Parts: sequence; structure tokens; C-alpha cells
Amino acid sequence: MDSKRSTFTGKIGFVLAAAGSAVGLGNIWRFPYLAAKYGGGIFLLVYIILAVTFGFSLMIAEIAIGRKTGLSAVEAYKKLDRRFAFVGYISAFIPAIILPYYSVIGGWVMKYMFGFVAGEKTAMAADSYFGSFIGGVGEPLLWFALFIGITAVIVLMGVEKGIEKVSKVMMPILVILILFISIYTIVTMDGAWEGVVYYIKPDLAHFSVKTILAAMGQLFYSMSLAMGIMITFGSYMKKDISIEASTRQIEVFDTIVAFLAGLMIIPAVFAFSGGDPNALNKGAGLMFATLPKVFDVMAGGSFIGFAFFIMVFFAALTSSISLMETVVSVLQDKTSISRKKACIAVLVFSLLLGAVSSLGYSAWDSVKLLGLQFLDFFDFVSNSVMMPVAAFFTCLIIGYIVKPRWAIDEVETSGKFKSAGLFTFMIKYIAPVCILLILISSVLDALGIVKL
Ligand code: PHE
Repeated sequence: MDSKRSTFTGKIGFVLAAAGSAVGLGNIWRFPYLAAKYGGGIFLLVYIILAVTFGFSLMIAEIAIGRKTGLSAVEAYKKLDRRFAFVGYISAFIPAIILPYYSVIGGWVMKYMFGFVAGEKTAMAADSYFGSFIGGVGEPLLWFALFIGITAVIVLMGVEKGIEKVSKVMMPILVILILFISIYTIVTMDGAWEGVVYYIKPDLAHFSVKTILAAMGQLFYSMSLAMGIMITFGSYMKKDISIEASTRQIEVFDTIVAFLAGLMIIPAVFAFSGGDPNALNKGAGLMFATLPKVFDVMAGGSFIGFAFFIMVFFAALTSSISLMETVVSVLQDKTSISRKKACIAVLVFSLLLGAVSSLGYSAWDSVKLLGLQFLDFFDFVSNSVMMPVAAFFTCLIIGYIVKPRWAIDEVETSGKFKSAGLFTFMIKYIAPVCILLILISSVLDALGIVKL
């Protein structure tokens, strides 16, 4: 990628591309199930506070690193300080871990998308449907292989631009559809309002250290932070475009989509379960178990259900493409193998690791790592361990080695950096301390040394 480093055309080009990477399954599938599980309103509040302070500062830091050095993560960290070259490698490795299990979920999305076409609307609304689907060995594997296969073909053929164009049209429609489904649920279903209250009203009784852990991991994931992606995007960004304004826009858009996705799912969970706390604790399956019930009772539900899942599919695809693209380009840079070979290597690796995640729900469901199923384990290692490590060192490097001025100067090439004070304070003091505490506590918790 480095050899033909292009720049984004115009301001909106950068924001749209970065938003395309940021908005994906993280917003629509992951955010709602975490919000449901970790206390509703209090999770939402913690998430928003972290997004506007911490997420904002970290994204600015990464984009500035990319634009100032003109390099992607591995080389950029090396250039900042040789001793910290390993941070670049850690960040580059994270997408390689995420891509496989991300594609497993992408496969589930495809399964549901085709289910609506095949007239299975009512069958999919049954309580046991999702469980028996992922509990089967072959079918989830096939859908997963199809999803990662499509991603690989697109990356291999270099037609990402075309897909991005499609997804630019899809994205606003997806947002409108999510809004429509939320309003439909809240207005027509008994019990949904309690879900709205649970989701919006912060209740300290639901607060725990885990709320912060989960919110921070989600922040990294959703905004594509701490994995080199925003550095690469920054390296393509023109000098006259405002990093600050662009970051705000990406952050606000990403958070709005996540917020609306929660509003679409959590009230529906309440409506169908009568507020049963176990229903809120469904984890990775929450969206798939809940939404078909809504579509089943809705007039025209098959069509709306299909439209919804196809748009989620495109949102997921733009994200999986950017994940794969990153891994492929790092591999190419580091080994000088051809793009085709690099793609195939990443595909094979992802097929293997993804198959493990998929089988973790069926044939291997008794195998647990740190008490987690494979998919949750990979999710935990990337989000709760590797990303905080990468983010911590990024703060150290910017805060104490090259100094915040270094990044601020880059932001100011396009005008005044209004939040420079907040940025410096976050990067030097708040962010590294918080990340370290969170990292230590999540690892101790996972190892069973302390129970949070
Ligand atoms: N941010 C994406 C999402 O929310 C996930 C992702 C991470 C995509 C990193 C690309 C790179 O789904």
C-alpha cells in the first residue's frame, strides 16, 4: 500500500472512508448486547463520556501520527521511536485476530438475510432458532466461509472502492431503518418503554468496574482505534483537512449509530421477555435472537427484515474489507510477497481461526479458554488486552517521548486545534492511567485472581 499511497479526495472523502470502517457490526451487533448486559443507561453514559474525551484524543493522536509520518502503523511507530517499534507490530496483529471472528458474525448476518428471502420469517422468530443454528456444525461454517470469501475476493480484485460506494448509499438507509424499527417497537409493543428507560436512564445500582472495562473495549473496537487503522487512514489524509473536525464527525456518527442500534434492540428484548434479566444477558446472540421477533409481528416484516440484514451485511463488509486490507498490506510490506499471495495467506489463516470460533458454539462448546468460548476469547484478547496495550504505549509515546506538541502541530496545519488542552491532558495523564488500571483489572479478572 505504501508504494502507491494515494490521498482522499476532499474533506468528505476521508470522513466517509473512516466512518465506513468505524460503523459496522461493532455498532449494530456488539454495542447493544454489551449495553444490555452491563447496566443499560449507566453503560451508555460511561461510553459517551469515554468517547468524547478519551476516544476523541486517541483518534486524533492516531490520525496525526499517520498524517505526519505518512506511514502505516508498523513503520510509523518505528519512526517515532525505535524502542517502540513493537507497538506497531501489536497493532498490526490485532486486525488479524479480529477479522476471523468478525467474519463468523458476518456469516450469521448472511444467514438471516437469506432466511427472510426464503420465507422463514416466522421460523426465525422462534426462541430456539438461533441456538440451533449456531449449535450446528456445518451451516455456520459455510456462511462464515462465504463471508470471508467475499471479503477476500473484493480485496484481491481491488474493487473496494465500488463496495464503498454502495455502502455510502446503504449507510443512511440503514440509519433510517434502525430508527423506524425502534419507533415501531416502542410505539406498538407492551413493555418496550421499560426497555427505553433501562437503556437511557443511568442507574448507579448497575454500575461496576466491568461497566468501564466493557465500555472501553467497545470504544476501541467501534472506532477502529488502537489497531493501526486510523494511522493508515491518516497517512492518506490531505494536509488542509481538519483532523479535529473530521474526528468529531466520525466519533459523533459512530456513536449515534451505536446508540440507535441499542434503542432498536433493548426495548424489544423487554417487550418479548417481560423484562427478564436473563434475556438481557444473551451475549453475542442478542441481536439475532431479538430482531426476528420484531419482524415477525410487523406488517411487511419479511421485506423489512431482509432490507435490514442486507444493509448490516454491507456495513460489516466495508469493515471486514478494511480489516483484511490492513493485514494484507502489513504482510506485503514486511515480506515483499505479492498481493495475491498475501491475500491468500490471510484468507487461509482467517479460515482456520474463524472455524475455531464457529465450532466453539457447536462441536467444541465444552472447550473453554479462561472460561470463555473461543469467539469470546478472541474478542477478549483483542479488545481487552492487546488494544489497551497498544493504546497505552501510544499515549506514552505522544505524551512523553515526542510530546503532545508534535501531534498538535500536525492538527494545526489546517487551523486552530480547539481542544488542544483536553487532548494534552487526556494523552498525558488520564488516558494512560485509566488504560493501565483497566488492563490490569481485566487480566486479573480473566485469570480468576480477582472477581470484579
Ligand atoms: N469498527 C468496526 C465496527 O464497529 C470494526 C472494525 C475494527 C473495522 C477495525 C475495521 C477495523 O464494526
